Amino acid sequence: MSSLVIEDLTVTRGGRPVVHSLSLTVGAGRVTALLGANGAGKSSLVLGLAGRLPVTGGRVVLDGTELQGRRPNRIRRAGLAAVPEGHTVFSSMSVSDNVRAAVVDPSREAELLGSVFELFPELADRREQMAGTLSGGQQQMLAIGQALAVEPRYLLVDELSLGLAPIIVERLVDTVARIAATGVGVLLIEQYAAVALGVADRAAVMDRGEVAWSGEASELRNDPEILQGVYLGAGNS
Ligand SMILES: Nc1ncnc2c1ncn2[C@@H]1O[C@H](COP(=O)(O)OP(=O)(O)OP(=O)(O)O)[C@@H](O)[C@H]1O
Ligand SMILES: [Mg+2]
Repeated sequence: MSSLVIEDLTVTRGGRPVVHSLSLTVGAGRVTALLGANGAGKSSLVLGLAGRLPVTGGRVVLDGTELQGRRPNRIRRAGLAAVPEGHTVFSSMSVSDNVRAAVVDPSREAELLGSVFELFPELADRREQMAGTLSGGQQQMLAIGQALAVEPRYLLVDELSLGLAPIIVERLVDTVARIAATGVGVLLIEQYAAVALGVADRAAVMDRGEVAWSGEASELRNDPEILQGVYLGAGNS
């Protein structure tokens, strides 16, 4: 059974640890929601996993292969793709070229372009348009499309709905569910807990660089007080 195992991971930022000995398993074909107050360390965790911030302790094991300390490209090729918070697409390149630039295996390019355009028909209609002229929602679709162009086994999405209209968010959440249904394990960071929990199977709540709670997403859906307890506890001790 495929899995992404994060073990005792410490990520350092600005010379100090912002993720402390964090352990979490992301299952294949499932959506794991990662919640937590501002500054809890969610984005830092994603950047550490993606090789963009230094990992100073612990392990990241994807189907038996250790990824910590490797370069971002190596991590992507191993099957772990991230859409970081506030990602940018190549704005003066066309939509198609943005996806092409992310493809790892050139022999798969045509097929991968096709599957991204099938998932996001609004991008297919704009394939020759400069990415910088897309709407915010379309740019988010393109960023997800770029991540999918590496045919990841695991996909990390930081702030899916940031700045987007509810109707687009609904559309993106539906897409995330479809991606997971193909077998990809998704770690979903989303500021609106209800949105994330609506699509997630599992959930984890971070507080000050650690996992304060983890379990079935349904537990958090049915008992929002758990979440409130963690959020209210943030910074109070
Ligand atoms: N560029 C930076 N340099 C140094 N420290 C940073 C930097 N960016 C964030 N931090 C610190 O790292 C910690 C974790 O921040 P991070 O952005 O990972 O949290 P987050 O959970 O993603 O928050 P949000 O919900 O606001 O996106 C915070 O204490 C923050 O102040
Ligand atoms: Mg963040």
